[in-house]
Amino acid sequence: MKKHLAVASILFLSACASAKLIAPGQADADRGAQKFPGYTMNDLNEGKGIYEAHCNKCHKYKAPQTRDEAKWDKVIPVMARKAKLDTAQEALVLKYVVTMSTVKQ
Ligand code: HEC
Repeated sequence: MKKHLAVASILFLSACASAKLIAPGQADADRGAQKFPGYTMNDLNEGKGIYEAHCNKCHKYKAPQTRDEAKWDKVIPVMARKAKLDTAQEALVLKYVVTMSTVKQ
């Protein structure tokens, strides 16, 4: 019983930690596809997953909404190198942050 409570509170805490990131929806993927031809919901979720796994190690998440596209175009190549992303991962993260940058909380 205690163990279950512990697991439940860990799940609860991790849900809170990521609650600041907006969950992308199909409308976001569609908007992204206007900028990035062929872009899908799957690409969007993959980009978010990579961002969540690599982009809060040295500092807290810098949420997509905190920068515009021009700024992300400059920052992501620098941070991708710091996070040791390969070029495919870098492209997915860039598309994720640019696509979500215009979504207001
Ligand atoms: C190896 C450490 C490290 C990793 C991993 C890392 N960063 Fe950073 N990042 C830094 C440092 C150091 C700074 C400069 C200090 C600061 O702003 O906290 C910075 C700054 C930033 C800034 C502010 C830059 C500015 O000029 O406004 C953004 C945005 C950012 N990082 C995004 C990301 C994203 C997105 C990722 C994942 C791809 C990432 N970072 C991964 C170390 C890292």
